[in-house]
Amino acid sequence: MSWLDGLVPHVKALHVGMLLLWCSGLFALPLMLARHDPAIGQSDYARIRRATHYAYTLFVTPAAVIAIASGTILIFLREVFEVWLFAKLGFVALLVTFHVWIGYVLVAVAEREGAHHAPAPGLPLALLMVPVLAILTLVLAKPDLAEIPVPGWLAEPLGRQLPFDVPRR
Ligand code: HEM
Repeated sequence: MSWLDGLVPHVKALHVGMLLLWCSGLFALPLMLARHDPAIGQSDYARIRRATHYAYTLFVTPAAVIAIASGTILIFLREVFEVWLFAKLGFVALLVTFHVWIGYVLVAVAEREGAHHAPAPGLPLALLMVPVLAILTLVLAKPDLAEIPVPGWLAEPLGRQLPFDVPRR
């Protein structure tokens, strides 16, 4: 066992801890954004606005970056180059899209001039459940997806040239 193997539990603990923070933030932020209503009064509005801004910038976004970075390190430490992992990464891309969308709504609701309202949180949160549950199913069950038929051109190198010049070594 090399010393790198000893790192796996620590990196995995970091990965799981950070994705718990990331995903719980993704669930909490749409609920917090829905409270951006001037009718709640100026001081409450200022408080929820500040809390949402700091939650997104200081906690949820750094947690996302660390979760993705530690997951990328785990790929190489554990040498998992399997189909379930690539399927998982597809769903992670949906999580990242959701994260970016929250940032967009946050800026629109709290930073731009004029009246902007956050969407009701029900549908976004229901949609968020799809990638989260899919990722957890894939990573915990690690199903053997190698049997899924893929076109031949996706499964073997075709030896073609890139359509642009690349520097010679
Ligand atoms: C780019 C982002 C990500 C990458 C590259 C990544 C990669 C990995 C890798 C390589 C492992 C180790 C698997 C093994 O030891 O067999 C792992 C573990 C895990 N990942 Fe991720 N992951 C990412 C994001 C996520 C997200 C967003 C979630 C949940 C919503 C998640 C949930 C988990 C869990 C629960 C484990 C522990 C599974 C186990 O030890 O059996 N990951 N991840």
